[in-house]
Amino acid sequence: MSYSPVTETPPQPSRPRNTWSPTDPMDPTDPIDPMDPTDPIDPIDSMDPTDQIDLGPLDFIPLGEGRAYTLGGKTIAVFRQRDGRLFATDNACPHKAGPLADGLVGSGKVICPLHMWKIDLETGRCLGEAGAVRTYPVRAANGRIRITL
Ligand code: FES
Repeated sequence: MSYSPVTETPPQPSRPRNTWSPTDPMDPTDPIDPMDPTDPIDPIDSMDPTDQIDLGPLDFIPLGEGRAYTLGGKTIAVFRQRDGRLFATDNACPHKAGPLADGLVGSGKVICPLHMWKIDLETGRCLGEAGAVRTYPVRAANGRIRITL
């Protein structure tokens, strides 16, 4: 199919609206595209390895899920998005302390399992609601999860 650059717009890639596809590389809400070499280096790559705590095997968290860990009196939720990105936040939802590790994860967000508040996993901010959770630097190294509190 041909088109005129003056009178018509070129075909654009399309994706269905109102779908939440964590593996969709066209998702404009996902700030880091693992396939894009121009994306900035994650600052976590430069964190001091001596500050990191080993949480165990990466495979303990299935892709697209979260798990809760108790560390130094805190309960931390670690999320492993389907594209492999890791995030860590306090486990208690800022609304009524719902267990965020049991929430639905994708596109850099988690949906609380209790009342469906949506939380940005990069910033910890609630989307559309007042409140936030603390986030923590987390990474995978040699098949293990490493976090800095
Ligand atoms: S406890 Fe998380 S939305 Fe209510």
